[in-house]
Amino acid sequence: MSLGVAVIGAGVMGSEHARLVREETSGAHLVAVCDADPARAEAAARGARVFDDAHALIASPDVKAVVIASPDATHAEYALACLAAGKPVLCEKPIAATAAEGMKIVEAELSLGRRLVQVGFMRRFDAAYREMRRTLASGRIGEAVLLHNIHRNLAAPDWFTGAMTVTNSFVHEIDISRWLLGSEMLSAQVFPAGPAGLLMIVMRTAKDEVVSTEVNINGGYGYHVHAQLVGTKGTIEMAPPTHTLTNAAGEHGFGFPRDWIPRFAQAYRDQMQAWVNAAREGMVVGASAWDGYVTSAVAKRIVAVMDKGDAARIALPEPPPLYLGA
Ligand SMILES: NC(=O)c1ccc[n+]([C@@H]2O[C@H](COP(=O)([O-])OP(=O)(O)OC[C@H]3O[C@@H](n4cnc5c(N)ncnc54)[C@H](O)[C@@H]3O)[C@@H](O)[C@H]2O)c1
Repeated sequence: MSLGVAVIGAGVMGSEHARLVREETSGAHLVAVCDADPARAEAAARGARVFDDAHALIASPDVKAVVIASPDATHAEYALACLAAGKPVLCEKPIAATAAEGMKIVEAELSLGRRLVQVGFMRRFDAAYREMRRTLASGRIGEAVLLHNIHRNLAAPDWFTGAMTVTNSFVHEIDISRWLLGSEMLSAQVFPAGPAGLLMIVMRTAKDEVVSTEVNINGGYGYHVHAQLVGTKGTIEMAPPTHTLTNAAGEHGFGFPRDWIPRFAQAYRDQMQAWVNAAREGMVVGASAWDGYVTSAVAKRIVAVMDKGDAARIALPEPPPLYLGA
């Protein structure tokens, strides 16, 4: 039976998730949308029911699974309500506005005795990252030594503060670095550079790998994500993110999109399909609530030291058995 999916938050991400459910996902259909702005909800719903109260949407019997794409500060409240209703959740990153709220979601799953939350770290579904992980596992480049990440945005809005560079943007690299390397982060240090909010963040893992990331929220030319993994016997890095090269106006090359949706279009699509497939089987794939919590806990430690220039020691609790092997 087709899974009735509802979307909370119909902004940039929520309207794309609603479109994916409507047009590009098999085994699911869009039943409802909720947004603080009714016009946005209406536009994304395209005939599905519109709610002005997210809790009423979560309680609705025809809503069998929920995508949370409202602002970070609302994630924990809505995810906990979904868990109380026993409904699977695809919660946009970060899992919550704080690590403490993320832990409440973990605790709610522990008391239910089952997992229902997938965090929207869609890079785990990206073909390039998947190939890098497979290649590392194959032994072809030897043991991992260093991971270089680049995360550049065109321009950040005024309200995007220094800490959000870590808690909202860099969380992608925390998650994907853990996932690629299969390592937890042990320490981190932040090197601010230039006048426009650029952060160079260097982390060391429990297996002694180094993860360097340029988080550049005002890169000035487009959305650009890149990664290169250096092993003891070779390296693997992303190819330019393009299917075509254009000759025009005296130049040869490809363009960068203004935001993340074109770059990760297939990853968002594959993430949605995988979530629906798993939800229909009563399972969870992708980043777990535990992964979401760990990512926010690492981000919190980095934010605590970023203005002082100190290295942060990162101490994480052991994963509960519910999450082992997840
Ligand atoms: N996975 C990714 O690559 C990615 C990319 C961008 C954003 N995000 C995450 O997605 C979430 C949404 O980001 P966005 O860029 O779409 O933001 P946005 O501002 O475009 O959309 C948020 C929407 O939520 C609505 N809203 C506000 N409060 C609400 C509430 N209490 N209940 C219901 N709706 C409410 C707003 O009216 C708005 O339409 C954020 O948590 C962000 O971190 C993820």
